[in-house]
Amino acid sequence: MKILITGANGQLGRELANQYKDIRGIDLILAGKLDLDITNLHSVYSFVNQKKPDVIINCAAFTAVDTCESQIDMAYKINAIGPKNLAIAANEIGAEIVQVSTDYVFDGNTDKSLTEFDLVNPQTVYGKTKLEGEILVKSHNPKHYIVRTAWLYGEGNNFVRTMINLSKTNTTIKVVNDQKGTPTSTVDLARVIIKLIEDKNYGLFHCTCKGECTWYEFTKEIFRLKGISTEVLPCTTDEFKRPAKRPKYSVLRNYMMELTCGDITRTWEEAIGEYLK
Ligand SMILES: NC(=O)c1ccc[n+]([C@@H]2O[C@H](COP(=O)([O-])OP(=O)(O)OC[C@H]3O[C@@H](n4cnc5c(N)ncnc54)[C@H](OP(=O)(O)O)[C@@H]3O)[C@@H](O)[C@H]2O)c1
Repeated sequence: MKILITGANGQLGRELANQYKDIRGIDLILAGKLDLDITNLHSVYSFVNQKKPDVIINCAAFTAVDTCESQIDMAYKINAIGPKNLAIAANEIGAEIVQVSTDYVFDGNTDKSLTEFDLVNPQTVYGKTKLEGEILVKSHNPKHYIVRTAWLYGEGNNFVRTMINLSKTNTTIKVVNDQKGTPTSTVDLARVIIKLIEDKNYGLFHCTCKGECTWYEFTKEIFRLKGISTEVLPCTTDEFKRPAKRPKYSVLRNYMMELTCGDITRTWEEAIGEYLK
């Protein structure tokens, strides 16, 4: 099976490449932004027609949530038009497409975990553009897997790395304690994507690790595991103003996996423990 990974130098792209290299019978095509700009329709057509993949896994995205608020056109281009281009090109050669999406499609004004059947209501440019990406992929290619994840960390820049770096120059740090979600390792997300493709289990899926915590609780656990002595103090979202609104509660339930193939993700504590080893 021939698999094309776009945005291959990002966190998820790297982990998928890492896991696929140990699987027999996989012919992997890794395309970073310089190899394939997904916003360029003609480049996408010619690349896809030349390589003829069986599956395209789109890991390319504009993930800087706050920057999206001021770069709206770019956010729509990368998060909505890019996936549309890939979905059409894939459909023309009979290929499947995986689109990765986000908990930010929800408004977060709830206190119960959100399933694939709950109504979306994005509050940010990032969330709106990612939702458009979902809709466009769904409407342009019936053989789609849309996988929503959250609080992702792997090889690259992420919250975990930022906190560890901050601890090197600060004796005390304040971290938001009134937003809840689920930290998710790229290892778990990549395993699920690979399994969905193997099973041809098309459709919309939530995929985060199990459990929930606040950013403050997550930081406390990171520092405990790393033996870091920097003091972590809880603060509110209002004390830490950002351009993009954050959902208060965006814990996703992997309900579609529970109903179909079974949920193979680990708890967030187990996943971060392995990551920091
Ligand atoms: N990170 C999170 O916390 C999080 C949470 C929920 C959902 N997600 C979703 O999960 C997926 C993977 O996220 P990630 O954390 O692995 O992202 P990432 O590390 O930011 O990687 C995204 C990659 O896309 C590339 N890219 C940007 N514009 C492109 C273009 N026009 N054409 C081709 N490639 C382009 C980037 O290259 P440059 O760096 O060179 O621009 C980068 O290598 C994304 O769909 C994201 O929306 C992420």
